[in-house]
Amino acid sequence: MTLKPTLKSSLSPIRRDRLQAAASRLKRGNSATLFFLQWLRAPGRMGAVVPSSRRLADAMARQIPPEARQDSAPVIELGGGTGSITRGILDAGIPSHRLIVLERDPRLADLLSQRFPGITVLCGDAQNLQTLLAERDITRVAAVVSGLPLLLFPEQARCRVVDACFGVLPVGRPLIQFTYGFAAPLPPHEHLLHARRVARVFRNVPPAFVWTFKKAG
Ligand SMILES: C[S@@+](CC[C@H](N)C(=O)[O-])C[C@H]1O[C@@H](n2cnc3c(N)ncnc32)[C@H](O)[C@@H]1O
Repeated sequence: MTLKPTLKSSLSPIRRDRLQAAASRLKRGNSATLFFLQWLRAPGRMGAVVPSSRRLADAMARQIPPEARQDSAPVIELGGGTGSITRGILDAGIPSHRLIVLERDPRLADLLSQRFPGITVLCGDAQNLQTLLAERDITRVAAVVSGLPLLLFPEQARCRVVDACFGVLPVGRPLIQFTYGFAAPLPPHEHLLHARRVARVFRNVPPAFVWTFKKAG
């Protein structure tokens, strides 16, 4: 929400700033409400009651390595939700034309398209990532940032998502994933991946851990 120009010009700068801050809080509140409503409809698919915090989004985006930033290949975000991590990735310097966000929920996919003009939003299932990208002639990506609740997925679905990611990620490029528990968000024996816990974020509800996974060479 932005203030109408007529209202804006009749206010002192301080009152204008306060009103603008209140409008931003309302906007954030709206996406939190939508997030919560979608969680009520499909808790297993949402995996969280509230969107990720700014701190968690930044911690995830920081894991995109310099060579992936300089690359021309796209950065993929899985499970964009209301866009907390999308915002973090863009603010970390990934240009919007290089960001492709895959979101299964059509309402959230619409919201992402409205909120972030310039990025590509695909409404679909992350299990079909490779096919969805191939339809756009994309066979290689720079990095994958995932907000998917992978541990809540049935094993077969989780394996399909991971296989799809490593079908397009070159050796050395990360799948970046957060999780709320102490255990790795991907069972170590399942895939031949190098797993590392790279950050802890206390300022998130609930506190979260960031992991990176890379294909064993
Ligand atoms: C924990 S929320 C994370 C949202 C956002 N990235 C954040 O961190 O605030 C998980 C998101 O993944 C989406 N999702 C769940 N399963 C999916 C799937 N198979 N393919 C694509 N998106 C999926 C949900 O709709 C939800 O928006």
